[in-house]
Amino acid sequence: MDDRLITSSMTGEDEQIEYSLRPRYLNEYIGQHNVKEHMRIYIQAAKHRGEPLDHALFYGPPGLGKTTLAAIVANEMGGNLRVTSGPAISHAGDLAAILTNLAPGDVLFIDEIHRLNANVEEVLYPAMEDYSIDIIIGKGPSAHSIRIDLPKFTLIGATTRLGLLTSPLRDRFGIKEQLELYDVDSLKEIIERSADILNIGIDPEGAIEIASRSRGTPRIVNRLLKRVRDYAQVKGNGVIDLETARAGLDMLAIDEVGLDAVDRRMLTTMIEKFSGRPVGLDTIAAATGDDATTIEDVYEPYLIQLGFIARTPRGRIVLPRGYSHMGYTPPMDSAQQKMEI
Ligand SMILES: Nc1ncnc2c1ncn2[C@@H]1O[C@H](COP(=O)(O)OP(=O)(O)OP(=O)(O)O)[C@@H](O)[C@H]1O
Ligand SMILES: [Mg+2]
Repeated sequence: MDDRLITSSMTGEDEQIEYSLRPRYLNEYIGQHNVKEHMRIYIQAAKHRGEPLDHALFYGPPGLGKTTLAAIVANEMGGNLRVTSGPAISHAGDLAAILTNLAPGDVLFIDEIHRLNANVEEVLYPAMEDYSIDIIIGKGPSAHSIRIDLPKFTLIGATTRLGLLTSPLRDRFGIKEQLELYDVDSLKEIIERSADILNIGIDPEGAIEIASRSRGTPRIVNRLLKRVRDYAQVKGNGVIDLETARAGLDMLAIDEVGLDAVDRRMLTTMIEKFSGRPVGLDTIAAATGDDATTIEDVYEPYLIQLGFIARTPRGRIVLPRGYSHMGYTPPMDSAQQKMEI
């Protein structure tokens, strides 16, 4: 699955260029107007008070800029960014070591924070609330706990699955921001910025074409830009225009709205095998060979945004637009099903 060109998770190839393409300050961060506006105010207010920013939680599908935003917060606040992730911290002691090594004003970024284990989370609560941790010294009857004060820091958590966060953890974040899929205009701006940094020639129509096929995701936009650049170099004059963008993306088997073979197989299965009836997530997963969580967190949001499928209490249904896109005539009652949602 991760071999999919339109995967929104990070691949080794992305890693190399993401560093150079990452916006460093809020005014370089394109789109996400609400989130940006909120963060701008919180940051200004915190700086004005001379305090670290409140703990912040960013959630939303992969590749939308959560890590980028955390780094921006650290830059804007003038603190260091320390990066770790839920699965990387296996013992409470690991987290204690990270926390006691922070300097005042540092930003601790915990990616995939929903994957912290319960013991580790326990340490995080007082750290977030009172900037202190309790450490047990010794064993048996002589064991006693001592309280260690921590520097005032900001915790930033990122997750693709808000629902998996325990409520005590969720409640300790003063700032919670949801990142949404980007619109084509914002993606176009991101491509143009990236093309500029990477020295790639692209005209506005070429940029719009790539933007429209990138599933609302900056990481995918940047990846497709590089692939189409290669195509333009070999097959064209090196500059990406509408024609080379179209031809390059067609060659990559990404259709005009950004769907690849797996999405199309999922839609076809739902249409042909289930003839428009609501289908459970696990059934879709079994039929397409994908993992249910990935379908739900990563692929569905885009199909829902396109208006191709909908979640209903009884399962997923294909909407008339999904039928038309796949070249099928929508059944009479599917419009009606839409009304029932
Ligand atoms: N608002 C933005 N403006 C410009 N570029 C962006 C923006 N958001 C993300 N990007 C680009 O997309 C890439 C992916 O973003 P990032 O790594 O922050 O996503 P993420 O949400 O942390 O993903 P994951 O959930 O996989 O960790 C970045 O390297 C950056 O180049
Ligand atoms: Mg990330």
